Amino acid sequence: AGEAPVVLAIDGPAAAGKGTLARGMAERLGLAYLDTGLLYRATGMAVRRAGGDPDDPAAAEQAARALRPSDLAAPDLRGEAAGDAASRVASMEPVRAALLDFQRSFAHAPPDGAPGAVLDGRDIGTVVCPDADVKLFVTASPETRARRRFMELRERGQDVIESRVLQDMKERDARDSSRGIAPLVAADDAVVLDTSDLDRDGALAASLALVAACPRLN
Ligand code: DC
Repeated sequence: AGEAPVVLAIDGPAAAGKGTLARGMAERLGLAYLDTGLLYRATGMAVRRAGGDPDDPAAAEQAARALRPSDLAAPDLRGEAAGDAASRVASMEPVRAALLDFQRSFAHAPPDGAPGAVLDGRDIGTVVCPDADVKLFVTASPETRARRRFMELRERGQDVIESRVLQDMKERDARDSSRGIAPLVAADDAVVLDTSDLDRDGALAASLALVAACPRLN
């Protein structure tokens, strides 16, 4: 008691499997979980719903500042439109600043008295929680990630073309990695986990083995 909560930072590109992995880790370790991509998705979609353009910095900043936890439950946040809008608003400094407090509060005072938190995103280990107890950078080849996203979209009944999904994936990667602020990059002290040849159980087992080396999680 009185100790700072344990923080696990899980970063990586789209469809690398980090969301599934982060949720699995949180469940196994009894920690709270925050999908930070949802904050950007909700911000982008709020701009769209208001009839605005996600590339408009004033509209995006206003939406980020007005974001409420209940906005994260909107049903349309998982689709490609939300992902595209998210990636646009995520490149703006005032948007990132507005969302930083929410993320840090969650990590430093996890809900429901949980002893710690798992956050997944792009800049958790580098910007949001640079002092995280464990940092994982989860990645996979663009082809593997496009294949996974394609299967997922098809299962949801969406009519998609795999080559188009791969092209969109590469464009999104380039935008996330090349932006001037908080680009997608592994922290110096992150452990890189390539899930190209791992299924979800394999990725979870490999990650649990990694955190077994962390004294605060044992
Ligand atoms: O993980 P995701 O696909 O839900 O993320 C949606 C977009 O939000 C993605 O293009 C990158 C951005 N994002 C970010 O810039 N920083 C984060 N911590 C999480 C997501």
